[in-house]
Amino acid sequence: MLIADRSPDAAGASVLDPFYRAAGNEVEVFTAAARRGTPVLLKGPTGCGKTRFVETMAHRLGRELITVAGHEDMTSADLVGRFLLKGGETVWVDGPLTRAVRAGAICYLDEIVEARQDTTVVIHPLADHRRELPLDRLGTILHAAPGFQLVISYNPGYQSILKNLKESTRQRFVAITLDFPGADAETEIVAHEAGIDTATARSLVGLGRAIRNLDGSPLGEVSSTRMLILAGSLVAAGLDLRTAVQSAVVEVLSDDDEVVRALGELVDAVLPRR
Ligand SMILES: Nc1ncnc2c1ncn2[C@@H]1O[C@H](COP(=O)(O)OP(=O)(O)O)[C@@H](O)[C@H]1O
Ligand SMILES: [Mg+2]
Repeated sequence: MLIADRSPDAAGASVLDPFYRAAGNEVEVFTAAARRGTPVLLKGPTGCGKTRFVETMAHRLGRELITVAGHEDMTSADLVGRFLLKGGETVWVDGPLTRAVRAGAICYLDEIVEARQDTTVVIHPLADHRRELPLDRLGTILHAAPGFQLVISYNPGYQSILKNLKESTRQRFVAITLDFPGADAETEIVAHEAGIDTATARSLVGLGRAIRNLDGSPLGEVSSTRMLILAGSLVAAGLDLRTAVQSAVVEVLSDDDEVVRALGELVDAVLPRR
C-alpha cells in the first residue's frame, strides 16, 4: 500500500509521491543508476525501508514497478515464464521478469534468499552489457526495452545472493546500503505511517533502538521500523501503548518465555509511565 504525501521538501517529488524519508544519498545513486539501466543491489535488514524506497524511485522516475517476492524454491520459470494448459491448449505465459524486460519496467526481486543457480543464470546476461533475456523454451532472446532495470534486495545478516553471482556480473551492480533510520527520521516515519503523535512515536523509536542495542542479544531479528509502525497503528486504533508494544514487538521477537520476560522488563524501563 502506498501512502500518498505532498512533501514539498523531497527533491524531484511530484504530487502524490509515496512518503519516503531519505537517509543518505540513496536517491541520487539510484537515479543515476536508473538513467543508465544499471542493476542495483539493495542491502539492509528486514523492515528498514527497502521496498518503500524502490516504490518511491519507480514513482519518481515514472517507471512501472514489477515486484517479485523472493522465496526459497524460486525457479527461473517463476521469473521467466512457463507453458500452461488453458482450455486444452498449451500457452506461454510470461513471468514477471519477462514482462518487465518487454515493458521497460523496474523488476524488483524482493528479499532474495540465496538464489538457486538456475535463477542467477537468467540474471547474468540481463545484468551485463547485453541486457538480454534468453527464453530457451520459446527459442528466442529478448532485448530489454529502455527503462528496464533490475533491483535485487536482500538482508546481508543472514543470506547472500552474492556468492552465487558471478564476479563479473556482480561488478556490474551498484550497491546501496540502507539501515534503520536515525532517531529523528524514524520518529517522523513512525508518526506519519502509524498516524500517531510525535511523542508516542518517539517513545516507540526509543524502545526500538534500545532493543537493537542490546548486548549479546538472543534475538534473531531486531525491532524493525515496520514493527514500530505496527505497534503505533494499534495505538492509533485505541490500544494502550504498553499492550501494543507487547503484541506487536515483544511477543513477535521471541517465543522464549525467559526472553519475552526480559524484553518486557526493558519495555517497562524504557517506555514512559502514563
Ligand atoms: N525511509 C522511510 N521513509 C518512509 N517510510 C519508511 C522508511 N523506512 C521504512 N518505512 C516504513 O516502514 C515500512 C517497512 O518498510 P519496507 O520498505 O517494507 O521494509 P523492507 O522492504 O526493508 O523490509 C514501510 O511500509 C514504511 O511504512
Ligand atoms: Mg521488502
